Amino acid sequence: MYNLKIINSTVRPSRKGPIITEWIAEVAHQHSEFNVEVLDLAQINLPMMNEPAHPRLKQYEHEHTKQWSAKIEEADAFIFITAEYDHSYPAPLKNALEYLVQEWGYKAAGIVSYGGVSAGTRAATSLKTDLIALKVVPLFEAVNIPFFDQFINDEAEFVPNESTQRAAQLMLTELVRWTKGMLVIRGKEI
Ligand SMILES: Cc1cc2nc3c(=O)[nH]c(=O)nc-3n(C[C@H](O)[C@H](O)[C@H](O)COP(=O)(O)O)c2cc1C
Repeated sequence: MYNLKIINSTVRPSRKGPIITEWIAEVAHQHSEFNVEVLDLAQINLPMMNEPAHPRLKQYEHEHTKQWSAKIEEADAFIFITAEYDHSYPAPLKNALEYLVQEWGYKAAGIVSYGGVSAGTRAATSLKTDLIALKVVPLFEAVNIPFFDQFINDEAEFVPNESTQRAAQLMLTELVRWTKGMLVIRGKEI
């Protein structure tokens, strides 16, 4: 079993992100290769980056950073769920990424984006650029959900159409493959 951390991007009251996060977490859970944990940035509640030392030194002063570091360290792979805010990905996720360096590296990531006509693809593209700087390998296969509101029912559940379901399965299949590859690169047992 590989440790998959699913990380959302939005923290505002009334956000829709958790609805989509819950759906992809369930799909990932059905992939028996993954031990799934959702890391909700609203609950984790990191302050704006307040560590004095450069994160690559891992000289963390604050308990919140040590806990965040431990969670990311134990990950073998990630799925990021990103909304699109002003044509990019939301600030809480950028802040959470910037807290750490080495813990992210040589691990693969799938991206689920949601938005209006753009399906959050501009956010996903910005996120990919930043992930590369942290040596995270973002997958080509992705889930991009346009006008996502129409797939949320009265019970606040995400009900994907066929193409979204297929995209999720493809992304997870590729994520398993890349996770195995990254284990070799990190010098770990497959
Ligand atoms: C600050 C802000 C900026 C937004 N910018 C965009 C945008 O650039 N593109 C887009 O498709 N939707 C945009 N939206 C609409 C979001 O797609 C929609 O509100 C979505 O629910 C945001 O995710 P959340 O509910 O998890 O916060 C924006 C929403 C907010 C609150």
